[in-house]
Amino acid sequence: MFHSKAFTGFISLAIALSALAQDVSQPGLIWDDLETSTELKWTECYTQPLQCARFQVPLNYSDPEGTTASIAVIRFPSPLAGTEEYKGPILLNPGGPGASGVEMVEGSGEMFSQLLGPNFDIVSFDPRGIGFSTPRGSVFPTEAQRQLYLERDMLRIVEAHGEEKIRYWGFSYGTVLGATFAALFPDRIERLVLDGVVDAENYFATLYSNNLLDTDKALQSFFDSCFEGGPDLCPFYESSPQAIARKLDELTQSIFLRPVPVVTSLSYGLVDYSRLRNTIFLSLYSPYTDFPRLAQGLADLARGNGTTLYQFLETPAFDCACGTQAPLQPVLDGRNVIGCTDGKEVSDTFEESESYLRDLLLQSQWAELWATLRISCLGWPKQEKKHFQGPFVGNTSHPILWIGNTADPVTPVASAHKMAKGFPGSIVLTQDSPGHSSMSAPSTCTAGHVREYFLNGTLPAEGVVCPVDGPIFSAQKASTLEARQVEGEDQILQVLERLRQTFRVASPF
Ligand SMILES: *[C@@H]1O[C@H](CO)[C@@H](O)[C@H](O)[C@H]1NC(C)=O
Ligand SMILES: *[C@@H]1O[C@H](CO)[C@@H](O)[C@H](O)[C@H]1NC(C)=O
Ligand SMILES: *[C@@H]1O[C@H](CO)[C@@H](O)[C@H](O)[C@H]1NC(C)=O
Ligand SMILES: *[C@@H]1O[C@H](CO)[C@@H](O)[C@H](O)[C@H]1NC(C)=O
Repeated sequence: MFHSKAFTGFISLAIALSALAQDVSQPGLIWDDLETSTELKWTECYTQPLQCARFQVPLNYSDPEGTTASIAVIRFPSPLAGTEEYKGPILLNPGGPGASGVEMVEGSGEMFSQLLGPNFDIVSFDPRGIGFSTPRGSVFPTEAQRQLYLERDMLRIVEAHGEEKIRYWGFSYGTVLGATFAALFPDRIERLVLDGVVDAENYFATLYSNNLLDTDKALQSFFDSCFEGGPDLCPFYESSPQAIARKLDELTQSIFLRPVPVVTSLSYGLVDYSRLRNTIFLSLYSPYTDFPRLAQGLADLARGNGTTLYQFLETPAFDCACGTQAPLQPVLDGRNVIGCTDGKEVSDTFEESESYLRDLLLQSQWAELWATLRISCLGWPKQEKKHFQGPFVGNTSHPILWIGNTADPVTPVASAHKMAKGFPGSIVLTQDSPGHSSMSAPSTCTAGHVREYFLNGTLPAEGVVCPVDGPIFSAQKASTLEARQVEGEDQILQVLERLRQTFRVASPF
């Protein structure tokens, strides 16, 4: 059967996925059989009721009669299609860049439909050069060009649905695309939700200088929530949050001096300082999923057993009874392909790099990991950069809804406020949680506002802060939640929980 492949779109500091270097050794069986058409001709695919289509677009929009490209599009169709209540498609973008929208809807389309309501088709697609879209990567001289085409392709997919304007929910790097779309086509916005917001100007300047504003706060939430969970729920518990922080410092120092070897059924290696730090940093992206496991891993490690912690970053066993697509290949330096081509050229001297790192360290203790994003673009081949890089301003035909968490480790809510300034009437909704994008934590409040916005166009009032439902360390397991027939808010919570299991927002970097 089809296993969820939520993690294949997960791009991290430690394991970056290069869309361009991606090797699809088993091209999708169903996709190869589909006819490419200038209309959206839907065919049943994967599991009921999913539908797929291959959509033909010009390879080069300036040359519409020339060679064409084929975009792999998927949807979870609205059960209300054909009725008065049907409202059209919502386009989702899982972040990335390079994350597969097809996999996102394949694994989580049903949950998104339940979350947003039956009135909409839930639609996503593999951008040019990614996954099932052809031709793959190599036709684009730069990532930037590929992204620019993405904007236009998005418009075409919407138009093929018979719609003038776009409804879009983009996460993380998907917010850069959304903001670009809004700046280029401000009058084509029906609804735009940008969630886990990247400061697009900072990104295109290859600065990465304001991502870590809340990262230490996210780590603090580990200490606090572990303490609140108590010794029964948090294996790394100590008598105060400060004591838990101290214990982590001591453990980190000890691992720095004496790494712990690990052998599992899949691989072997060391839990050393770097692996420990990367693991902790990455768990800040999804505290509700990862903190309990992290606490177990740290507690085991403190006793000399590194297995649980090691397994966080262990490449999963190849699992492809699925007949769909081989998992994306992890490529260690893949992030550079994207960031360095999208962004302004970096030509810092050694002293400038040093001072850059020093400044970043004032923001967060995680600067040592983050600084490499800019510094590793040094020496990147010179390229002509003609793609749109701002300004990110526009009077949109409907106001944008921005969403930011109070302790997002890589896209602080301050970036949402900064981006919102360029788009009059847009509103920032704050979710009071750690984690990357609103999807990383359960909030019926946030879910309600997003649903209301798509259904009715209504924006939350300025300054709304949504609480989360339930603690990070909780005795209630997902399985018991799923076993029950639930309604109302509980049902939303259950859907959000299942979404966290199947879909992880791809980190922008
Ligand atoms: C796209 O087509 C235009 C017009 O024919 C041409 O000038 C341009 O070089 C083409 N771009 C690419 C990337 O091939
Ligand atoms: C280390 O922990 C793992 C996971 O809990 C366990 O399976 C394994 O037996 C432990 N190893 C030792 C040597 O205790
Ligand atoms: C948006 O509209 C305001 C008021 O009409 C105008 O001053 C501003 O220049 C417009 N912004 C853009 C980017 O068009
Ligand atoms: C839709 O929005 C309007 C105006 O903001 C509001 O009065 C109405 O109650 C909303 N409808 C629903 C179904 O929430």
